[in-house]
Amino acid sequence: MTSFPAWVIRKEDGKNAAILEQVADSMLDDLDTTVRVLFSGINYKDALALHGRPGVVRRTPLIAGIDLVGEVVASTHSRWAAGDIVTLNGAGLGEDLNGGLAGLAHVKGDDLIAVPDTFTPTQAAAIGTAGFTAALSLLALERNGLEPECGPVLVTGAGGGVGSIAIALLSRAGYEVVAATGRADALGGRLIALGAAEVIDRASLESPGRPLGTQRWSGVIDSVGGTILANALASLNAGGVAATCGLAAGADLPTTVLPFILRGITLAGIDSVHTAPALRHDAWELLANDLDPQLVDAVTRIVDLADAQDAAAELLEGRGTGRTVVAIAPEH
Ligand SMILES: NC(=O)c1ccc[n+]([C@@H]2O[C@H](COP(=O)([O-])OP(=O)(O)OC[C@H]3O[C@@H](n4cnc5c(N)ncnc54)[C@H](OP(=O)(O)O)[C@@H]3O)[C@@H](O)[C@H]2O)c1
Repeated sequence: MTSFPAWVIRKEDGKNAAILEQVADSMLDDLDTTVRVLFSGINYKDALALHGRPGVVRRTPLIAGIDLVGEVVASTHSRWAAGDIVTLNGAGLGEDLNGGLAGLAHVKGDDLIAVPDTFTPTQAAAIGTAGFTAALSLLALERNGLEPECGPVLVTGAGGGVGSIAIALLSRAGYEVVAATGRADALGGRLIALGAAEVIDRASLESPGRPLGTQRWSGVIDSVGGTILANALASLNAGGVAATCGLAAGADLPTTVLPFILRGITLAGIDSVHTAPALRHDAWELLANDLDPQLVDAVTRIVDLADAQDAAAELLEGRGTGRTVVAIAPEH
Protein backbone atom coordinates (compact mmCIF):
# COMPACT_ATOMS: atom_id res chain seq x y z
CA MET A 1 0.00 0.00 0.00
CA THR A 2 1.27 3.46 -0.92
CA SER A 3 0.52 6.59 1.06
CA PHE A 4 0.86 10.21 -0.03
CA PRO A 5 -0.16 13.73 1.11
CA ALA A 6 -3.48 15.10 -0.11
CA TRP A 7 -5.97 17.87 0.59
CA VAL A 8 -9.05 15.88 1.58
CA ILE A 9 -12.51 17.42 1.86
CA ARG A 10 -14.35 15.84 4.77
CA LYS A 11 -17.77 16.47 6.22
CA GLU A 12 -17.42 17.82 9.78
CA ASP A 13 -20.44 18.95 11.83
CA GLY A 14 -22.51 19.00 8.65
CA LYS A 15 -20.05 21.27 6.82
CA ASN A 16 -17.21 20.59 4.42
CA ALA A 17 -13.67 21.09 5.77
CA ALA A 18 -10.35 20.72 3.93
CA ILE A 19 -7.61 18.81 5.73
CA LEU A 20 -4.05 18.18 4.54
CA GLU A 21 -3.40 14.58 5.52
CA GLN A 22 -1.53 11.42 4.55
CA VAL A 23 -3.88 9.06 2.69
CA ALA A 24 -3.60 5.51 1.33
CA ASP A 25 -3.99 4.66 -2.36
CA SER A 26 -6.99 2.50 -1.42
CA MET A 27 -8.91 5.83 -1.22
CA LEU A 28 -8.43 6.47 -4.96
CA ASP A 29 -11.07 5.71 -7.59
CA ASP A 30 -10.90 2.50 -9.62
CA LEU A 31 -9.74 4.04 -12.94
CA ASP A 32 -7.40 2.91 -15.70
CA THR A 33 -4.38 5.17 -15.27
CA THR A 34 -2.18 5.89 -12.23
CA VAL A 35 -0.39 9.25 -12.27
CA ARG A 36 2.30 10.49 -9.91
CA VAL A 37 1.20 14.09 -9.57
CA LEU A 38 3.93 16.71 -10.02
CA PHE A 39 1.80 19.87 -10.01
CA SER A 40 -1.76 20.97 -9.47
CA GLY A 41 -3.13 24.51 -9.35
CA ILE A 42 -5.57 26.84 -7.69
CA ASN A 43 -8.63 27.67 -9.74
CA TYR A 44 -11.69 29.44 -8.39
CA LYS A 45 -13.38 26.04 -7.84
CA ASP A 46 -10.35 24.80 -5.90
CA ALA A 47 -10.50 27.91 -3.75
CA LEU A 48 -14.14 27.19 -2.93
CA ALA A 49 -13.41 23.54 -2.13
CA LEU A 50 -10.35 24.30 0.04
CA HIS A 51 -12.45 26.68 2.12
CA GLY A 52 -15.34 24.29 2.63
CA ARG A 53 -17.71 26.24 0.40
CA PRO A 54 -20.53 24.29 -1.23
CA GLY A 55 -21.11 23.72 -4.95
CA VAL A 56 -17.91 21.98 -6.05
CA VAL A 57 -17.30 18.77 -4.06
CA ARG A 58 -20.18 16.37 -4.69
CA ARG A 59 -19.23 13.57 -2.28
CA THR A 60 -17.06 13.28 0.82
CA PRO A 61 -14.42 12.33 1.68
CA LEU A 62 -12.88 13.47 -1.61
CA ILE A 63 -9.43 14.71 -2.62
CA ALA A 64 -9.64 18.29 -3.93
CA GLY A 65 -8.03 19.67 -7.08
CA ILE A 66 -9.62 20.04 -10.52
CA ASP A 67 -6.26 19.99 -12.36
CA LEU A 68 -3.16 17.84 -12.39
CA VAL A 69 0.09 17.46 -14.29
CA GLY A 70 2.09 14.35 -13.66
CA GLU A 71 3.91 11.25 -14.83
CA VAL A 72 2.07 8.08 -15.72
CA VAL A 73 3.13 5.29 -13.37
CA ALA A 74 0.96 2.54 -14.88
CA SER A 75 -1.94 2.38 -17.32
CA THR A 76 -4.17 -0.19 -18.96
CA HIS A 77 -5.33 2.46 -21.47
CA SER A 78 -4.02 1.93 -25.01
CA ARG A 79 -2.67 5.49 -25.38
CA TRP A 80 -0.59 5.77 -22.20
CA ALA A 81 2.51 4.13 -20.82
CA ALA A 82 4.73 4.61 -17.77
CA GLY A 83 6.82 7.76 -18.07
CA ASP A 84 4.35 9.80 -20.16
CA ILE A 85 3.95 13.37 -18.91
CA VAL A 86 0.25 14.20 -18.97
CA THR A 87 -2.26 16.78 -17.86
CA LEU A 88 -5.93 16.61 -16.96
CA ASN A 89 -8.38 19.48 -16.50
CA GLY A 90 -11.82 18.99 -15.00
CA ALA A 91 -13.56 15.81 -16.15
CA GLY A 92 -14.94 15.42 -12.63
CA LEU A 93 -11.54 15.69 -10.91
CA GLY A 94 -11.95 17.26 -7.48
CA GLU A 95 -15.75 17.31 -7.90
CA ASP A 96 -16.96 13.72 -8.03
CA LEU A 97 -13.61 11.96 -8.58
CA ASN A 98 -10.59 12.22 -6.32
CA GLY A 99 -8.53 15.15 -7.58
CA GLY A 100 -5.09 16.53 -8.20
CA LEU A 101 -4.07 18.18 -4.91
CA ALA A 102 -2.33 14.95 -3.94
CA GLY A 103 0.80 12.94 -4.56
CA LEU A 104 -1.00 10.23 -6.55
CA ALA A 105 -4.13 10.06 -8.72
CA HIS A 106 -6.15 7.45 -10.56
CA VAL A 107 -7.71 8.96 -13.70
CA LYS A 108 -9.47 8.05 -16.96
CA GLY A 109 -6.99 7.74 -19.81
CA ASP A 110 -9.60 9.03 -22.29
CA ASP A 111 -9.49 12.49 -20.73
CA LEU A 112 -5.70 12.84 -20.49
CA ILE A 113 -3.67 15.12 -22.71
CA ALA A 114 0.06 14.69 -23.33
CA VAL A 115 1.79 17.85 -22.12
CA PRO A 116 2.87 19.58 -25.36
CA ASP A 117 6.64 19.79 -25.94
CA THR A 118 6.40 23.57 -25.93
CA PHE A 119 5.52 23.62 -22.21
CA THR A 120 7.31 22.42 -19.09
CA PRO A 121 5.15 20.52 -16.59
CA THR A 122 5.07 23.68 -14.44
CA GLN A 123 3.80 25.76 -17.37
CA ALA A 124 1.16 23.15 -18.21
CA ALA A 125 -0.04 23.34 -14.60
CA ALA A 126 -0.03 27.13 -14.74
CA ILE A 127 -2.26 26.95 -17.82
CA GLY A 128 -4.57 24.48 -16.06
CA THR A 129 -8.32 24.73 -16.21
CA ALA A 130 -8.09 28.53 -16.48
CA GLY A 131 -6.02 28.44 -19.67
CA PHE A 132 -7.96 25.47 -21.01
CA THR A 133 -11.16 27.45 -20.48
CA ALA A 134 -9.69 30.53 -22.15
CA ALA A 135 -8.81 28.37 -25.16
CA LEU A 136 -12.29 26.79 -25.24
CA SER A 137 -13.74 30.31 -25.14
CA LEU A 138 -11.67 31.51 -28.08
CA LEU A 139 -12.57 28.38 -30.06
CA ALA A 140 -16.26 29.07 -29.33
CA LEU A 141 -16.00 32.69 -30.48
CA GLU A 142 -14.33 31.65 -33.71
CA ARG A 143 -16.83 28.83 -34.29
CA ASN A 144 -19.44 31.57 -34.20
CA GLY A 145 -17.70 33.61 -36.88
CA LEU A 146 -15.37 35.93 -34.94
CA GLU A 147 -12.23 37.06 -36.77
CA PRO A 148 -9.65 39.71 -35.85
CA GLU A 149 -11.03 42.00 -38.59
CA CYS A 150 -14.43 42.12 -36.83
CA GLY A 151 -13.21 44.58 -34.18
CA PRO A 152 -12.17 44.75 -30.50
CA VAL A 153 -12.77 41.89 -28.06
CA LEU A 154 -13.60 42.57 -24.40
CA VAL A 155 -12.08 40.34 -21.69
CA THR A 156 -13.62 40.69 -18.23
CA GLY A 157 -12.02 39.45 -14.98
CA ALA A 158 -8.83 40.35 -16.84
CA GLY A 159 -6.51 40.06 -13.84
CA GLY A 160 -7.66 36.52 -13.03
CA GLY A 161 -6.51 33.19 -14.42
CA VAL A 162 -9.01 32.81 -17.28
CA GLY A 163 -8.82 36.50 -18.16
CA SER A 164 -5.03 36.70 -18.22
CA ILE A 165 -4.60 33.74 -20.54
CA ALA A 166 -7.54 34.83 -22.72
CA ILE A 167 -5.77 38.16 -23.30
CA ALA A 168 -2.55 36.43 -24.32
CA LEU A 169 -4.32 34.00 -26.68
CA LEU A 170 -6.51 36.65 -28.32
CA SER A 171 -3.64 39.06 -28.79
CA ARG A 172 -1.43 36.39 -30.35
CA ALA A 173 -4.28 35.50 -32.74
CA GLY A 174 -4.35 39.14 -33.91
CA TYR A 175 -7.33 40.50 -31.96
CA GLU A 176 -7.46 43.99 -30.45
CA VAL A 177 -8.11 43.21 -26.77
CA VAL A 178 -9.85 45.49 -24.29
CA ALA A 179 -9.18 44.26 -20.73
CA ALA A 180 -11.70 45.12 -17.98
CA THR A 181 -10.30 44.91 -14.45
CA GLY A 182 -11.08 46.20 -10.99
CA ARG A 183 -7.35 46.72 -10.45
CA ALA A 184 -6.30 48.88 -13.40
CA ASP A 185 -3.71 50.78 -11.35
CA ALA A 186 -2.01 47.66 -10.01
CA LEU A 187 -2.38 45.35 -12.98
CA GLY A 188 -2.66 47.65 -16.02
CA GLY A 189 1.01 47.29 -17.03
CA ARG A 190 0.84 43.52 -16.69
CA LEU A 191 -2.31 43.27 -18.83
CA ILE A 192 -0.70 45.41 -21.54
CA ALA A 193 2.37 43.15 -21.41
CA LEU A 194 0.07 40.15 -21.93
CA GLY A 195 -1.24 41.80 -25.10
CA ALA A 196 -4.15 44.07 -24.13
CA ALA A 197 -4.44 47.14 -26.36
CA GLU A 198 -6.52 48.98 -23.75
CA VAL A 199 -7.28 48.52 -20.05
CA ILE A 200 -10.61 49.79 -18.71
CA ASP A 201 -11.93 50.02 -15.16
CA ARG A 202 -14.59 47.36 -14.60
CA ALA A 203 -16.54 49.99 -12.63
CA SER A 204 -17.61 51.39 -16.01
CA LEU A 205 -19.52 48.12 -16.58
CA GLU A 206 -20.86 47.55 -13.07
CA SER A 207 -23.94 49.80 -12.98
CA PRO A 208 -27.17 48.56 -14.58
CA GLY A 209 -27.22 49.93 -18.13
CA ARG A 210 -29.67 50.26 -21.00
CA PRO A 211 -30.79 47.07 -22.79
CA LEU A 212 -29.02 48.31 -25.93
CA GLY A 213 -25.84 50.35 -25.55
CA THR A 214 -23.35 51.81 -27.99
CA GLN A 215 -21.83 49.00 -30.05
CA ARG A 216 -18.24 48.62 -28.80
CA TRP A 217 -16.98 45.06 -29.19
CA SER A 218 -17.21 42.22 -31.70
CA GLY A 219 -16.57 39.55 -29.08
CA VAL A 220 -16.45 39.04 -25.31
CA ILE A 221 -14.77 36.47 -23.07
CA ASP A 222 -16.52 36.83 -19.72
CA SER A 223 -15.56 35.08 -16.50
CA VAL A 224 -17.58 37.26 -14.11
CA GLY A 225 -21.28 37.16 -15.12
CA GLY A 226 -23.86 39.47 -13.49
CA THR A 227 -24.40 43.08 -14.54
CA ILE A 228 -20.95 43.23 -16.18
CA LEU A 229 -21.90 40.47 -18.64
CA ALA A 230 -25.33 42.06 -19.19
CA ASN A 231 -23.67 45.38 -20.10
CA ALA A 232 -21.12 43.62 -22.28
CA LEU A 233 -23.94 41.94 -24.22
CA ALA A 234 -25.74 45.27 -24.61
CA SER A 235 -22.56 46.73 -26.19
CA LEU A 236 -21.81 43.88 -28.61
CA ASN A 237 -21.74 44.80 -32.28
CA ALA A 238 -24.52 43.41 -34.45
CA GLY A 239 -23.68 39.74 -35.10
CA GLY A 240 -21.16 39.70 -32.25
CA VAL A 241 -20.54 36.76 -29.93
CA ALA A 242 -19.81 36.41 -26.22
CA ALA A 243 -18.45 33.37 -24.38
CA THR A 244 -19.67 33.04 -20.79
CA CYS A 245 -17.55 30.87 -18.56
CA GLY A 246 -17.68 32.20 -15.02
CA LEU A 247 -19.51 33.86 -12.17
CA ALA A 248 -16.87 35.74 -10.17
CA ALA A 249 -19.31 38.68 -9.89
CA GLY A 250 -22.49 36.62 -9.65
CA ALA A 251 -24.60 33.89 -11.21
CA ASP A 252 -27.42 36.18 -12.27
CA LEU A 253 -27.69 37.69 -15.74
CA PRO A 254 -29.96 40.75 -15.66
CA THR A 255 -30.37 41.23 -19.40
CA THR A 256 -33.16 41.37 -21.97
CA VAL A 257 -33.69 39.62 -25.28
CA LEU A 258 -33.18 42.91 -27.16
CA PRO A 259 -29.48 42.53 -28.14
CA PHE A 260 -30.30 38.99 -29.27
CA ILE A 261 -33.33 39.82 -31.42
CA LEU A 262 -32.33 43.29 -32.63
CA ARG A 263 -28.59 42.74 -33.15
CA GLY A 264 -28.42 38.98 -33.69
CA ILE A 265 -25.78 38.44 -31.03
CA THR A 266 -24.81 34.99 -29.74
CA LEU A 267 -24.05 33.89 -26.18
CA ALA A 268 -21.92 30.74 -26.09
CA GLY A 269 -21.67 28.76 -22.83
CA ILE A 270 -18.35 27.19 -21.86
CA ASP A 271 -18.18 24.03 -19.74
CA SER A 272 -14.59 22.89 -19.29
CA VAL A 273 -15.53 19.93 -17.07
CA HIS A 274 -17.54 17.83 -19.51
CA THR A 275 -15.51 18.64 -22.62
CA ALA A 276 -15.26 15.74 -25.08
CA PRO A 277 -11.75 14.34 -25.71
CA ALA A 278 -11.56 15.74 -29.28
CA LEU A 279 -12.31 19.29 -28.12
CA ARG A 280 -9.83 18.89 -25.22
CA HIS A 281 -7.23 18.06 -27.83
CA ASP A 282 -8.17 21.09 -29.98
CA ALA A 283 -7.95 23.46 -27.01
CA TRP A 284 -4.52 22.17 -25.96
CA GLU A 285 -3.34 22.34 -29.57
CA LEU A 286 -4.38 26.01 -29.66
CA LEU A 287 -2.51 26.61 -26.40
CA ALA A 288 0.61 24.81 -27.68
CA ASN A 289 0.62 26.82 -30.91
CA ASP A 290 -0.44 30.25 -29.68
CA LEU A 291 0.46 30.70 -26.02
CA ASP A 292 3.92 32.11 -25.37
CA PRO A 293 5.45 30.06 -22.48
CA GLN A 294 7.27 33.18 -21.24
CA LEU A 295 3.95 34.98 -20.82
CA VAL A 296 2.74 32.01 -18.77
CA ASP A 297 5.82 32.29 -16.56
CA ALA A 298 5.18 36.01 -16.11
CA VAL A 299 1.76 35.38 -14.54
CA THR A 300 2.71 32.28 -12.49
CA ARG A 301 3.66 31.83 -8.88
CA ILE A 302 4.42 28.46 -7.29
CA VAL A 303 3.37 27.45 -3.79
CA ASP A 304 3.90 24.25 -1.79
CA LEU A 305 1.06 21.82 -1.15
CA ALA A 306 0.89 22.99 2.49
CA ASP A 307 0.29 26.59 1.35
CA ALA A 308 -2.52 25.81 -1.11
CA GLN A 309 -5.30 26.80 1.29
CA ASP A 310 -3.77 30.21 2.04
CA ALA A 311 -3.27 30.88 -1.67
CA ALA A 312 -6.89 29.90 -2.26
CA ALA A 313 -8.10 32.52 0.22
CA GLU A 314 -6.66 35.25 -2.00
CA LEU A 315 -8.79 34.09 -4.93
CA LEU A 316 -11.93 34.08 -2.81
CA GLU A 317 -11.19 37.64 -1.73
CA GLY A 318 -10.68 38.74 -5.37
CA ARG A 319 -6.98 39.41 -4.66
CA GLY A 320 -5.56 36.60 -6.79
CA THR A 321 -3.61 37.50 -9.91
CA GLY A 322 -2.69 35.29 -12.81
CA ARG A 323 -2.09 31.65 -11.97
CA THR A 324 -1.04 29.77 -8.84
CA VAL A 325 0.71 26.42 -9.34
CA VAL A 326 0.88 23.97 -6.45
CA ALA A 327 4.10 21.93 -6.38
CA ILE A 328 3.35 18.42 -5.17
CA ALA A 329 6.83 17.02 -5.74
CA PRO A 330 9.07 20.10 -5.69
CA GLU A 331 12.14 18.17 -6.85
CA HIS A 332 10.47 18.07 -10.29
N1 LIG B 1 -17.07 27.31 -17.22
C1 LIG B 1 -15.97 26.69 -16.86
O1 LIG B 1 -15.73 25.56 -17.23
C2 LIG B 1 -14.99 27.43 -16.00
C3 LIG B 1 -13.63 27.10 -16.03
C4 LIG B 1 -12.73 27.88 -15.29
C5 LIG B 1 -13.21 28.92 -14.50
N2 LIG B 1 -14.54 29.16 -14.46
C6 LIG B 1 -15.08 30.25 -13.66
O2 LIG B 1 -14.54 31.46 -14.17
C7 LIG B 1 -14.39 32.40 -13.13
C8 LIG B 1 -12.96 32.90 -13.12
O3 LIG B 1 -12.09 31.83 -12.81
P1 LIG B 1 -10.55 32.15 -12.56
O4 LIG B 1 -9.89 30.85 -12.27
O5 LIG B 1 -10.03 33.02 -13.62
O6 LIG B 1 -10.67 32.97 -11.17
P2 LIG B 1 -9.76 34.14 -10.63
O7 LIG B 1 -8.35 33.89 -10.99
O8 LIG B 1 -10.15 34.35 -9.22
O9 LIG B 1 -10.23 35.40 -11.50
C9 LIG B 1 -11.48 36.01 -11.36
C10 LIG B 1 -11.33 37.49 -11.66
O10 LIG B 1 -12.64 38.08 -11.71
C11 LIG B 1 -12.59 39.40 -11.24
N3 LIG B 1 -13.53 39.53 -10.13
C12 LIG B 1 -13.45 38.96 -8.89
N4 LIG B 1 -14.49 39.32 -8.13
C13 LIG B 1 -15.25 40.14 -8.90
C14 LIG B 1 -16.46 40.84 -8.68
N5 LIG B 1 -17.11 40.77 -7.51
N6 LIG B 1 -16.95 41.59 -9.68
C15 LIG B 1 -16.32 41.65 -10.87
N7 LIG B 1 -15.16 41.01 -11.15
C16 LIG B 1 -14.65 40.26 -10.17
C17 LIG B 1 -11.15 39.65 -10.77
O11 LIG B 1 -10.47 40.26 -11.86
P3 LIG B 1 -10.07 41.83 -11.85
O12 LIG B 1 -9.52 42.11 -10.47
O13 LIG B 1 -9.07 41.95 -12.93
O14 LIG B 1 -11.34 42.59 -12.11
C18 LIG B 1 -10.60 38.27 -10.57
O15 LIG B 1 -9.21 38.23 -10.74
C19 LIG B 1 -14.83 31.67 -11.86
O16 LIG B 1 -16.19 31.98 -11.60
C20 LIG B 1 -14.66 30.22 -12.22
O17 LIG B 1 -15.49 29.38 -11.44
C21 LIG B 1 -15.43 28.43 -15.18
